[in-house]
Amino acid sequence: MTFLRNTWYLAAWDNEVTRTLFARDIVGESVLMYRKQDGSPVAMANRCPHRFAPLSMGKLKGDVVECGYHGLQFDFTGQCVLNPHPGGSGPIPRGAKVAQYPLIERYGALWIWMGEKTPDESLLPDFNWLDEPPMRAGEIGRRRRDTREIRDMCVVNAHYELIVDNVLDLTHLPYLHEGGLGNHPKYLYNEKVENIQQGNTFWCKRSSQKVEASPDFERFNPKLAEFPCDKANAVRWNAPGHVVIVPTYWKSGTDKEHLTCLYISTMLTPASEGKTWQFWSLARNFALDSDEVDLAMRNAAAVGLEKEDVDVIETQWRYMGTADIFSLGLASLPGDITPNRVRRALAKMIAEEQSQTKEYRDPAPISEHQNVRLTA
Ligand code: FES
Ligand SMILES: [Fe+2]
Repeated sequence: MTFLRNTWYLAAWDNEVTRTLFARDIVGESVLMYRKQDGSPVAMANRCPHRFAPLSMGKLKGDVVECGYHGLQFDFTGQCVLNPHPGGSGPIPRGAKVAQYPLIERYGALWIWMGEKTPDESLLPDFNWLDEPPMRAGEIGRRRRDTREIRDMCVVNAHYELIVDNVLDLTHLPYLHEGGLGNHPKYLYNEKVENIQQGNTFWCKRSSQKVEASPDFERFNPKLAEFPCDKANAVRWNAPGHVVIVPTYWKSGTDKEHLTCLYISTMLTPASEGKTWQFWSLARNFALDSDEVDLAMRNAAAVGLEKEDVDVIETQWRYMGTADIFSLGLASLPGDITPNRVRRALAKMIAEEQSQTKEYRDPAPISEHQNVRLTA
């Protein structure tokens, strides 16, 4: 499996990680997370160095994790601090250390760095519209000064790059999401499209005039059904799989009267090649006190994002498997420009990282043990 490692992945929403041991597979590794008594989050390999038992099956004692198999204890840096054998306090075995992963808590989420290089905070993309205090129990809408957010996570049984393709090519909206997130296909005809690269940030920006809002947007803001709208829709990608769509409607021909704006954030974290944690959030600039709009958005996400997109993407994955997408002789459309640029940029980043990463061996290959002479 080849994943970019020296980058930030969204490991969990902030309220998923508590004082209970919690494990999640990230880029093919099982990661243990919990909060220390002071509330700060910890992430480390979920694998005891004694016999590889999952530490998540153990106990959290203060800030220390006790393995549930034979009782070794590890502090939050991953160092073994207690070996109960023999007599309750034996010597700390050599190699009794668990890898710890750097975390940043920001934008209502925990972001993890799985690479060997020093973590670089500047590589975390800007998601400032997600930044706010923790949710209250049972609350589905999150409110801050100028936006309100609903969020969730769904599992997609497919490679995360297929989800990136999907989000970056919005020409699928009128077809796959007809009657929901997509408006009539005729509104694609006169769209102005810009594919933009700024360093390692890629944008696809679309705009059109005198259109109807999509049925979902008219449900979110019924005012939009009363007049023709101008529309702008920008999509931004940052490595490895952080995509935000910002659809914006306003009354056509005005200085953005009835401005209706959504930030649809999709943060993709591969569990493995064929399984992705799709963290998503819908933040809006209107109806900030409306539980009904929260519900309408939750329903739209359940249909469009968690069902219609996922059904297609999971089937694509079954058809494509791990083949290089550029080797499949696929028919090409204009909407592929940014998805293809992003795939090439990501492949280049991964190749560069791999060429710089020194090989490490863990544990020693079996052939080395075969030289050990067993004597009676
Ligand atoms: S496997 Fe953890 S102490 Fe034995
Ligand atoms: Fe979609």
